[in-house]
Amino acid sequence: MDSPYIRQATGSDMPYLYGICLKTGLSGLDATNYYHDPLMLGHYYAAPYLWKDPDLCFVALDDDGVPSGYIVGTDDTEHFNEWLNDYWLPPLRKQYPQNRPVKSEQEQSLCDRIRKGPGAGVWEHVGYPAHLHIDLLPKLQGKGLGKALMKIWLDCIAQRGAEGVHLGVDGKNTQAFGFYERIGFRILERPEWGAVYGLKVEKKA
Ligand SMILES: CC(C)(COP(=O)(O)OP(=O)(O)OC[C@H]1O[C@@H](n2cnc3c(N)ncnc32)[C@H](O)[C@@H]1OP(=O)(O)O)[C@@H](O)C(=O)NCCC(=O)NCCS
Repeated sequence: MDSPYIRQATGSDMPYLYGICLKTGLSGLDATNYYHDPLMLGHYYAAPYLWKDPDLCFVALDDDGVPSGYIVGTDDTEHFNEWLNDYWLPPLRKQYPQNRPVKSEQEQSLCDRIRKGPGAGVWEHVGYPAHLHIDLLPKLQGKGLGKALMKIWLDCIAQRGAEGVHLGVDGKNTQAFGFYERIGFRILERPEWGAVYGLKVEKKA
């Protein structure tokens, strides 16, 4: 890692991950006004990754050294999802019960997701066992940091022996479509909500 703007994440980055997740959580845009609880998005899409496997989490820093972007993920989605269902989600299911008032369809959908859990996946069983989330605040976008974070992360999962990675992109997030395609990801599936992208990586383990 040779950039002064990227480093391994640590526990003290957790609050920043929550903040970035919210500020980019509406198909890449600010989701603040769509959720009663500003922590809810991060509870699902950012924090569990840092908690479970900090070695696969990296942060991008702004000019003042403040974490303003991240990449998080797992090299083993099946195992991660079991852990999420059994350990991470049960308290959140009590915290966000069914029929709780919501501010938006996005909040309702996340409530449902927390309640149901990630379920049985497909892509991890056919050569794409890893998955990731990458988000940068607007001030850090378009400077090559997304690509740099991605390179570091893909090297890490290759060293762990993962042969491929998949990820979901909301259909409204056309900017992310362009980014992933530039990195080399290809569409595996077009569900009604967007696209599932996949990328094969060369195993280094
Ligand atoms: C999507 C995101 C991670 C991309 O990171 P970034 O730092 O802005 O992208 P980079 O500057 O590293 O761009 C890397 C390359 O992709 C290209 N690229 C980026 N966006 C592109 C687009 N929409 N279309 C085509 N190419 C694109 C860049 O031109 C660059 O090309 P190069 O290899 O020739 O230099 C970042 O913009 C972001 O966090 N957006 C908001 C949150 C989000 O949408 N996250 C993804 C959720 S699925």
